[in-house]
Amino acid sequence: MRIIRDPRAWKETLRDQRKKTVSIGFVPTMGALHRGHMSLIERSIEENDVTAVSIFLNPTQFNNADDLKNYPSTFEEDCRLLEAIGVELLFTPTYDDIYADGFTYQVNETELTGRFCGAARPGHFTGVLTIVLKLLILTAADRAYFGEKDWQQYRLIDGMAKSLFLDTQIIPCELIREESGLALSSRNALLSLAQRKIAPYFHQIISSGITIDQMEQLLVEHGFRVDYIEEWEDRLLAAVFLGEVRLIDNVRIS
Ligand code: PAJ
Repeated sequence: MRIIRDPRAWKETLRDQRKKTVSIGFVPTMGALHRGHMSLIERSIEENDVTAVSIFLNPTQFNNADDLKNYPSTFEEDCRLLEAIGVELLFTPTYDDIYADGFTYQVNETELTGRFCGAARPGHFTGVLTIVLKLLILTAADRAYFGEKDWQQYRLIDGMAKSLFLDTQIIPCELIREESGLALSSRNALLSLAQRKIAPYFHQIISSGITIDQMEQLLVEHGFRVDYIEEWEDRLLAAVFLGEVRLIDNVRIS
């Protein structure tokens, strides 16, 4: 696996690669890789000749300094997993190289960014869209893979790709859960032992078919703080806190 830090070198490497291969798949991540991430990478490997991955803990999408500081990092283990599965190219840019403009140029969406997760995390999705646009331009992959765990993020990225006529096809991938139903997330590593035992109730409660009011009440009884539970199109989107750890999930409404 080739590890490339410099954005221009990445762009050139991908350009050369495109001359030699039929299709390139791309999976952007912030590292601390788990089975959820790996399922996106597996799918990219299945559907493309070459798979490129990025690991960049993007500060501009964190509206809370502690959340950024506490975000888990397991770079060496991540590299081992990526090598073992057969990823050819890994992009690990630095903040200064990727934001040489000091984040003065930003991608702003005016409808969906302020709702759901965006209401509680001002600026979050502007940071996400800006970094993803940069990564999509630098990589110019045929397909890029995003998890349905972050449903609002997937929809915003898909909307951006269509709006800006990007050549990369945005592919949504199934949400991967633990056996308990808890959605896999890098942030699960931050839960205490006691919180780990409570966390599975989140998915069990939001998929139980009771009213949103009843869900909120049950979650609070179990020790969660509810950020939001809202219906949007054919989905129920939800975010809760266990202590300082924010968990998100979504289920299709049947
Ligand atoms: P990160 O949280 O590292 O997630 C990278 C990708 O893995 C995202 O597309 C996310 O939806 C997907 N993913 C995470 N957990 C998953 C699960 N349990 N099942 C399925 N897919 C899962 O999302 C980001 O990073 C960043 O916002 C990023 C898009 C990289 C921009 O910085």
